[in-house]
Amino acid sequence: MSTLAKVSTTAVGVALIRARESEREDRLLNDPYARAFGDAARTSYREAPDTWAMVEQLVDGFYEGRIVGVRVFDDLVRDAVDAGLTQIVLLGAGLDTRAFRLDLPADVRLFEVDVPEMIAFKEPILRELGAEPTCGRTVVAADLREDWSSRLIEAGFRRDVPTLWLEEGVLGYLPREQARAVLTTVTGLTAAGSRFIAGALKVDESAEHYRKLKEFVGSEAQPSRGLGPDPATWLREIGWATEFRAWDDLAAPLGRGVATGDPDNGLVLATRHQER
Ligand SMILES: C[S@@+](CC[C@H](N)C(=O)[O-])C[C@H]1O[C@@H](n2cnc3c(N)ncnc32)[C@H](O)[C@@H]1O
Repeated sequence: MSTLAKVSTTAVGVALIRARESEREDRLLNDPYARAFGDAARTSYREAPDTWAMVEQLVDGFYEGRIVGVRVFDDLVRDAVDAGLTQIVLLGAGLDTRAFRLDLPADVRLFEVDVPEMIAFKEPILRELGAEPTCGRTVVAADLREDWSSRLIEAGFRRDVPTLWLEEGVLGYLPREQARAVLTTVTGLTAAGSRFIAGALKVDESAEHYRKLKEFVGSEAQPSRGLGPDPATWLREIGWATEFRAWDDLAAPLGRGVATGDPDNGLVLATRHQER
């Protein structure tokens, strides 16, 4: 097995974080597949021990904040399904396992979009584990910098069905123009009542673990990345209503001491309110 590109290896880091969490008695979530992803990745990196050591350091640095983030997104997925949304698209899904572990109903269709090499890494492991999704699940091998929407539609995505779109740690790796192009495409594809969740999280890029992440992904990280410093304003301009949820309020009930003390740090929950 060849090693993944570094930007895709960040998904292995998140899987290792979920695996570590799943072993705790006070776990915020249980992912029975995450350990197998981590083990397979570790094997594929045996010729590159320094890179693997860096992945493990990043896992240590990001663990607390990221696991709370995963659980917050789990809860937002459950909320959307409870509200009647039956179509979910995970952009840059990585090694996400929500189709298997959230007990989503069978009438939900969940699409996972990621680059072909990530899917080639992930699917054999799931098959070997005999993992069965509880909902409909379709993987879409596509690069978000290219024409990914045709692939999604070919895979069975329905434009007339209100959809939950999740971007969890992918658009921040794309240059601003490309990240916004992804959302412009989403906007054009999506029915009224659809939801999009965007991180407006401010990060301290001078913190040791962020500095290491930037070093790790190297040239794949661009200077001006993601949707921009004020995604809510931009989303409103392109046809979404937005609501802000402060990170500290979302995280407090989970009891992990990851408060930032900054009421402006949080997530933007966007709802599509008009056709354009
Ligand atoms: C930090 S990981 C997050 C994965 C997953 N959303 C999670 O939270 O565990 C970033 C993911 O984005 C994917 N990715 C990066 N650039 C991409 C692109 N241009 N097109 C599609 N996927 C991309 C990577 O392969 C990786 O799986």
